[in-house]
Amino acid sequence: MDTNPVMEMLGRPLRLAVVGGGPGSFIGAMHRTAARLDGRYDIVAGVVSSDPERSQEAAGAMGIDPNRAYVDPWTMFVGEAGRDDGADVVAIMTPNDSHHEYAMAALRSGFDVICDKPMTNTLEDALEIVDLVEESGLVFALTHNYTGYPMVRQARAMVADGQIGEIRLVQVEYVQGGKAAEDDPQHGSEVPWRYDPVRGGPSLVMGDIGTHAHNLVRFITGLEVSEVAAEIGHVVPGRMVDDFGAAMLRFENGARGTFWVTQTAAGVENGLRIRVSGTKASIEWFQENPTRLLFSPVADMARVLTPNGPATMPPSARSTRIVAGHPEGFHEAFANIYSDAAEAIAARRSGLAVDPLAMTFPNAWDGVVGVAFVDAAVASSNANGQWTTPALVQRSGSRAEKDSNA
Ligand SMILES: NC(=O)c1ccc[n+]([C@@H]2O[C@H](COP(=O)([O-])OP(=O)(O)OC[C@H]3O[C@@H](n4cnc5c(N)ncnc54)[C@H](O)[C@@H]3O)[C@@H](O)[C@H]2O)c1
Repeated sequence: MDTNPVMEMLGRPLRLAVVGGGPGSFIGAMHRTAARLDGRYDIVAGVVSSDPERSQEAAGAMGIDPNRAYVDPWTMFVGEAGRDDGADVVAIMTPNDSHHEYAMAALRSGFDVICDKPMTNTLEDALEIVDLVEESGLVFALTHNYTGYPMVRQARAMVADGQIGEIRLVQVEYVQGGKAAEDDPQHGSEVPWRYDPVRGGPSLVMGDIGTHAHNLVRFITGLEVSEVAAEIGHVVPGRMVDDFGAAMLRFENGARGTFWVTQTAAGVENGLRIRVSGTKASIEWFQENPTRLLFSPVADMARVLTPNGPATMPPSARSTRIVAGHPEGFHEAFANIYSDAAEAIAARRSGLAVDPLAMTFPNAWDGVVGVAFVDAAVASSNANGQWTTPALVQRSGSRAEKDSNA
């Protein structure tokens, strides 16, 4: 990333307004760092807390002009839409139940949108967003940030290139330990939004990490899950929300898969792992060691591929910033989503063509498919693991079609 296409196309960085991500939010700081890393955005406005006073104070501490530290998102959308130097893009990183409302309002006000996952808590809301995005022509990026890692993009490119052969098997697991404690959430304190099904959505574990695992599978393989047989529930005694999910998957091409997500594996940190096996080879990637992609061909030596190392393919090469052997990680992968979205937004705003390689960031359609998968997995679990078809799998607009339409 040694050029700045946004500067070339627009002559200035995009102006970004943020909603959420105030003090105490892990992901808020990641969004802001990602936006700034390649110089493609200036953060010009924000509402970073639901409490107006705290929001204005915290936004000021982030360097946002006090005149553009707003009391709520609606005031910000009106205020920024009315300025000559107003925001171009709105980034949403608030609790899950607010994504739909804020995204719809931002799109209706003419802003391109970057939104955190899960896109919404209901399929109906997700479909409204996808329809408005299609109608408006605005850009919508969903921060399934793991798709920004160079070796994940390499894996996707190798699959598309036929190096794995016809995919037969997929194993994905996203194992964390952050909710292993039996006193989480602590008794007597206010229930955190994640533990409230109205705010957090139908399934805590599926909304928090299940959607990431499902999206990663689709991103690398290009395949849709056609049926799921799941058990979703809790393993920590007395917990009222889901903290683990296990499923068998059937894919549209006949491949089979397993899916395992939990936040209760004591001591485990951020164990997102995927193995894809085809007729010619297998590939394996593990998020805690993200610069390594294991490629095991059936008729040759297994080898470990690295960013910018031998055999690097273009989608991976464009996702690294430094020479081989210098580790990049979570921030840079997150920034790849932001920077690719910036290219798409700048191209749209200046009427220029966008590099197709920039168009792999997860979009509103990926969001809707993720929500449909969560619903299907929960429905299957409620029916004692019955095979269940996610809604919309057959609707036009699959990942591949969306990419080629870009
Ligand atoms: N991409 C990822 O890997 C990843 C990781 C963590 C969280 N997330 C997502 O990010 C979102 C936020 O999660 P979190 O862990 O930061 O939650 P959090 O509770 O830690 O932080 C939420 C922040 O949003 C602010 N906020 C709440 N309501 C607001 C409103 N109406 N207007 C403005 N600000 C408001 C809060 O003050 C707080 O600063 C969720 O959708 C979650 O799923 C994504």
